[in-house]
Amino acid sequence: MEERKYFIKTYGCQMNERDTEIMGGQLDQLGFQATDRDNQADLIIINTCAVRGSAEQHAFGYIGQLKQLKDQHPHVKLAVAGCMAQEPGTIAWIKRYAPHVDLVFGTHNLHQLPKLLEEAEEREETLIDVWKTAGDVVEHLPSHRNDGVRAFVNIIYGCDKFCTYCIVPFTRGKERSRALAPIVAEVRALAQEGYQDITVLGQNVNSYGHDLDPQVDLADLLRSLEPIEGVRWLRYTTSHPRDFSQHLIDSIAASQKITHHVHLPVQSGSNAILKKMNRKYTQEYYMDLINRVKLAIDDVSLTTDIIVGFPGETESDFEDTLELMRKVRYDAAFTFIYSPREGTPAARWEGRDPVPDPIKKDRLNRLMELQYQISLEANQQLVGRTEVVLIEGLSRKDPNVWAGRTQSNKVVLVNRDSAVDLIDRFIPVRIEKAKTFYLGARQIGDPLSGPAPRRRVELPLL
Ligand code: SAH
Ligand code: SF4
Ligand code: F3S
Repeated sequence: MEERKYFIKTYGCQMNERDTEIMGGQLDQLGFQATDRDNQADLIIINTCAVRGSAEQHAFGYIGQLKQLKDQHPHVKLAVAGCMAQEPGTIAWIKRYAPHVDLVFGTHNLHQLPKLLEEAEEREETLIDVWKTAGDVVEHLPSHRNDGVRAFVNIIYGCDKFCTYCIVPFTRGKERSRALAPIVAEVRALAQEGYQDITVLGQNVNSYGHDLDPQVDLADLLRSLEPIEGVRWLRYTTSHPRDFSQHLIDSIAASQKITHHVHLPVQSGSNAILKKMNRKYTQEYYMDLINRVKLAIDDVSLTTDIIVGFPGETESDFEDTLELMRKVRYDAAFTFIYSPREGTPAARWEGRDPVPDPIKKDRLNRLMELQYQISLEANQQLVGRTEVVLIEGLSRKDPNVWAGRTQSNKVVLVNRDSAVDLIDRFIPVRIEKAKTFYLGARQIGDPLSGPAPRRRVELPLL
């Protein structure tokens, strides 16, 4: 029999991408083969994100669109997974509008994929198996890892912060840390396979280890990963400012491998809004943290997430956010319009005290405009410097140019001066040009020595 093929569409954050790798690993073990085309697949899994309405709309649209494919090829199995599957509204929608879906499972039982597929096989109607709460952390799951030299490693699941706008604590459950030893073992194995750029993952990595016995923290974990041979860059995401400790700042400053990129989502610069968001810090606390980070970590690249149009946000609240942005001078910011999430406290306030849509849009534009100007100025400061760039592929716009990233996660386009394949190599460059979203550079030396590249396929980036 011909090999069955699977296609997984992934929305959302890196934790979802990691979950997709774990689903892929289980399917590989069942003898499936991965494909990057949905119309060639016998099994399609949609790994969804619920963080904003727009992400949900994309997934709903795609699920709807697959009805046609399923009508033409009735043997194709469709599964909906991920954060949306944890929401009762999604289940009701699938029952009503998407009975062509064969299986729905959630974030807490994706390790049971083989069993769920088998059960769904035998049923006419949609099999819905979503766990309300998380079980124990499951170790030793197989993975279908991404190509390249960059790998993600889960360290903590769930979130206990309950920011009033956010759905994640509902879709991902309470915080559960993985034990230190299996994380170290996983990173060691990845390094042996040639992965050199390691990102440890969690919704709030700064609370890693508080639930372990003996207690450890993120700084302890990163220190245990530091000596692993072959690891060149160590990253962590996402951080919560409240839990970002001085111990961690000092560890980053002292480390040879932890990258000097600090992503500290602020969400708002207004104390009134921060309080309503339940962020558990003030603007003054945040600025003090930023100043300590800047003082301790050389050439630190700072990025953030900001929400505009939170219920009740006034013009003066919004101006506090602009002011904070001017003071911090982020290298980049991810900016979002507030999106009400059913079941969260802020969604109820949105009913009573919404910011009108045109004002939300206007604030987003003003925020982005300011950030773009600051990003450009920050990039201009880098002209003339030497940096190491991890090449990811060719520029989509110009095949004579390589595209890659620095340790601080800045996109760099590098002139392609020879026929040598540089994908997955770390190369020294001199920065020659600054734009808002990327830097232009020239190679100034041979690739750094290290393991042979893991792949030969050229992936466009920009
Ligand atoms: N755990 C991370 C990231 C969570 S989601 C953190 O705490 O930073 C990523 C970003 O999406 C958040 O930082 C926030 O800026 C944004 N976000 C979350 N919920 C949102 C909502 N309801 N509407 C708009 N943006 C939201
Ligand atoms: Fe959501 Fe807040 Fe948790 Fe981040 S810290 S996942 S924004 S509840
Ligand atoms: Fe989205 Fe779930 Fe991640 S809601 S941002 S995929 S944790």
